[in-house]
Amino acid sequence: MSLHHRHLLQIEGMHPPDIGAMLDLAESYVLLNRSGKTQRDLLRGRTLINLFFEDSTRTRTSFELAGKRLGADVINMSVSTSSVNKGETLLDTAATLNAMHCDLLVVRHGESGAPSLLAQKVDAAVINAGDGTHEHPTQALLDALTIRRRKGRLEGLTVAICGDVLHSRVARSNIHLLTAMGSRVRLVAPPTLMPSQAGRLGVEVFHDMRAGLEGADIVMMLRVQRERMSSSGGRIGLVPSEREYFRFFGLDAEKLALARPDALVMHPGPMNRGVEIASEVADDPARSVIKEQVEMGVAVRMAVLDILSRQNRRND
Ligand code: ASP
Ligand code: CP
Repeated sequence: MSLHHRHLLQIEGMHPPDIGAMLDLAESYVLLNRSGKTQRDLLRGRTLINLFFEDSTRTRTSFELAGKRLGADVINMSVSTSSVNKGETLLDTAATLNAMHCDLLVVRHGESGAPSLLAQKVDAAVINAGDGTHEHPTQALLDALTIRRRKGRLEGLTVAICGDVLHSRVARSNIHLLTAMGSRVRLVAPPTLMPSQAGRLGVEVFHDMRAGLEGADIVMMLRVQRERMSSSGGRIGLVPSEREYFRFFGLDAEKLALARPDALVMHPGPMNRGVEIASEVADDPARSVIKEQVEMGVAVRMAVLDILSRQNRRND
């Protein structure tokens, strides 16, 4: 997102100073949230609608909290009980919400590009809350905030992103953000779960997890996204048994020992324990920042709503 844009659709193309400014603003919201205060005048009179066509716990809840803490009227539209079930299209659904003068439309959809299509059709500012295998921009921002707060910087860090890279919008947004901010990004996955063009993304590619973790500052694990494998034509064979996957690509204490002694463990959630990550590392408070990622999610989404609403007010 450029801070001069109306929508937040992707990290790709965002300028490093804009990312830095967004993280600085989110940082101030971390402090506000920890103090227990709110800033309810900022979005007073504004309406935010959460429109999620795919399941979510963290993203939807944190957008709701973020909107409410800034004073917006927040509506969570339940797609599963909506007229989408009667065959109403995505565009007609969005046009209907738009006619109710919604100001901020937070969209998660199974098709890559759906939020950007909506952005061309509605007056509201559209925020991509995850589209297919394309991007999940607020996840990358909250991951960056978590890393920056712990390590004091992003530049020069070695970040190993491990697991089902092929289906991960989290990986794609993180690759764009971290490489733009000067981190060294490694992708670690079996060949079947590595995008064929991975080498062109300015990253290093590893198929051996032990080699990929060697000396890493950050170990970012990804969920094995079985739902995207079965829906894409029998691609379930992309992963062996869960036991075998865990043996080669699951993070446990023994593999983590290859990373730097102060390496942080991250996971966007939801986790498949015993598949891509062992509880002994996921729950280790000395290494895991998974809960902190969730906390940062609220602050980052407050910053995004803040910036977009100021931007759109200027365009009113
Ligand atoms: N929650 C993240 C997403 O929706 C990651 C995941 O589901 O594995 O992309
Ligand atoms: N990390 C993430 O997007 O989680 P949810 O799918 O629960 O929103």
